[in-house]
Amino acid sequence: MKAVVFTKYGSPDGLRLTEVENPAPLGDELLVKVVATAVNQADHHVLSGSLRFSTGLFWPRQPILGSDVAGIVAAIGPDVSQFQVGDAVFGDLSGHGRGGFAEFVTAPEDAWALKPGTLSFAEAAAVPMTAVTALQGLRDYGQLQPGERVLINGASGGVGTFAVQIAKVLGGVVTAVASGRKLNRVQAIGADHLIDYTQEDFTENGQPYDLIFDTVGNRAVAAYERALAPGGRFVTTAFLPGLLLRGWWPVHRAGQKMVNMMAHPAREDLMFLAKLLASGQIQPVVDRCFPLAEVPDALRYLGNGQATGKVVVRVPAV
Ligand SMILES: NC(=O)c1ccc[n+]([C@@H]2O[C@H](COP(=O)([O-])OP(=O)(O)OC[C@H]3O[C@@H](n4cnc5c(N)ncnc54)[C@H](OP(=O)(O)O)[C@@H]3O)[C@@H](O)[C@H]2O)c1
Repeated sequence: MKAVVFTKYGSPDGLRLTEVENPAPLGDELLVKVVATAVNQADHHVLSGSLRFSTGLFWPRQPILGSDVAGIVAAIGPDVSQFQVGDAVFGDLSGHGRGGFAEFVTAPEDAWALKPGTLSFAEAAAVPMTAVTALQGLRDYGQLQPGERVLINGASGGVGTFAVQIAKVLGGVVTAVASGRKLNRVQAIGADHLIDYTQEDFTENGQPYDLIFDTVGNRAVAAYERALAPGGRFVTTAFLPGLLLRGWWPVHRAGQKMVNMMAHPAREDLMFLAKLLASGQIQPVVDRCFPLAEVPDALRYLGNGQATGKVVVRVPAV
């Protein structure tokens, strides 16, 4: 099969489209014919070697990136009980060695859920990692309650475009922060209030928020803290070392809580999101699709901050 592989850490320039052996499903694994996959900032992190303590100290243990996959079950291992050949599925394979930038991939059945019939494969590939991160950040870490004021910093990104919509589903009053040219799109997916970060600093405008969900990490901890209401929570996907110094879920003045979050692939969350997607309560924002051979361009496009929402890769290769 064709796959985009990397054999040493570096930039997207080092990725190559090449022939590799077809994977075969073992035990409880599905063999999935990839129809679409998405690029994530996590692919950049793995590619650059910044996660080398978990992905291989000197060279990458898994040569194929790509966590978010939508495709069709082509074969099943002997212990599979929940899927059959021909099912349309989607999933986040980041806990199973990735491998989405290829024509076929295997992963245990727990990594997959049935694709909502209302979504194209490209739309479905845009969902798993970023939508689950937004859900876990707002619902689990952030404990968002109906009627609360929630600010999404990074609202035009992969995580942020889902966060705006999920926050609305959870009953929040949503303020979205993004760059000016992307605000129209963010408003169209339901944000109640908009802040163009090139014109206004939300940590300086005197508006307090019950929950700040941050995907950028571009402010000092004290600045984020200033924008929290009494009892407010701050959750970031971006990892702020300053929060570690303050301890995990510390109680600050006025009962405020601040945390670096770490999302985990969860099938039950993906199935919960599938229902919201099927009913049209949330929808993926797909900026652009690239063919498999252009994965390096897709990664550069995401890395340059050009995209609004998700960048998707269609398979076949060209
Ligand atoms: N901790 C976890 O479990 C976890 C899980 C998933 C993702 N992540 C991380 O979360 C981060 C976001 O992921 P993503 O997929 O949403 O990335 P993305 O699609 O590249 O989005 C990045 C966002 O950052 C915004 N941004 C850039 N500069 C900004 C600034 N100065 N002020 C305000 N916003 C700014 C961009 O807004 P404009 O485009 O409008 O400038 C864009 O909305 C990444 O670092 C990723 O690695 C962590």
